[in-house]
Amino acid sequence: MIDPADIVLTGDRPTGPLHLGHYAGSLRSRLALQGRCAQTLLIADLQALTDLSGRADMVARRVPEVALDYLAVGIDPAVTTIAVQSRLPALAELTVLYLNLVTVARLERNPTVKAEVELRGFARDIPAGFLCYPVSQAADITAFRATLVPVGEDQLPMIEQTNEIVRRVNRLAGRPVLAECRPLLSETPRLPGVEGRKASKSLGNAIPLGAPPDEIRRLVRAMYTDPTHARAEDPGRVEGNVVFAYLDAFDPDTAAVAALKERYRAGGLGDSALKARLEELLEALLAPIRARRAELARDPGYVMEVLREGTARASPVTEAVLRDVREAFALG
Ligand code: TRP
Repeated sequence: MIDPADIVLTGDRPTGPLHLGHYAGSLRSRLALQGRCAQTLLIADLQALTDLSGRADMVARRVPEVALDYLAVGIDPAVTTIAVQSRLPALAELTVLYLNLVTVARLERNPTVKAEVELRGFARDIPAGFLCYPVSQAADITAFRATLVPVGEDQLPMIEQTNEIVRRVNRLAGRPVLAECRPLLSETPRLPGVEGRKASKSLGNAIPLGAPPDEIRRLVRAMYTDPTHARAEDPGRVEGNVVFAYLDAFDPDTAAVAALKERYRAGGLGDSALKARLEELLEALLAPIRARRAELARDPGYVMEVLREGTARASPVTEAVLRDVREAFALG
């Protein structure tokens, strides 16, 4: 499935601290890919501005925070390139060129954009940059000649749209200047927020990677379980139970989780005992990440250097792709 010749590109918008959903959904795959093929992580600050231009200071502050999250979970900047989107002007120029290959109707039909427009309540007042962000994402992916993109299921339409653009550029160029990419989906289904809705940085329903023990406890205790499971002796439902979703995602002892599910279904396992187990598990997972994050945060100069160095490494790669694409548009 993964070829050492694969080129991996993925990114995150710097809009808030990364959380356990990111860890299960993509950070774990990135760690597994690290060292097995070329990999770049892009901190997508331009993409964040497509709906947060009014909070540009926050976005800028979040860029090194995302880098800290990457480093804290074990991304090694000597092996994996960490780059900042806004510092790579080739990405912006590629976006402008690709915009000529995409119709507004196609963008409006993109299911990811549709869902996000609804979530944000934009109705007809969609910032043009937001509507076009799939094109900017295609620029990100193709600028690195990426063949493999670790993403959540919600991003699949982005991959499809990227490959449409790739084919159009190649047709224009009369030769295969760009490669199509394929998604790498996580094995864990999307992790819900503590109350069972979509986990989101802005809803405060996700567990941040840097969460202190009392925040982990508060969020685990707030987890939605089964409202009909009032007493420990009552039989409980496992499906839709957020605690089990987290145990499935993070407890490596799958046999023990299966036994817990059986006991829970039969009756005899109380929510507080179940939550205590999860809390302990998450604390063991997050304690080393939290410690490393705190240590790295004491040296902001180091984080800035990682970003500067990674972006400098990425820049010539993106410039070479831009030269090829300019040529396809007779701008040689
Ligand atoms: N859209 C992604 C997110 O919402 C971030 C992103 C930007 C990205 N560029 C990318 C993901 C390229 C994969 C590939 O977080």
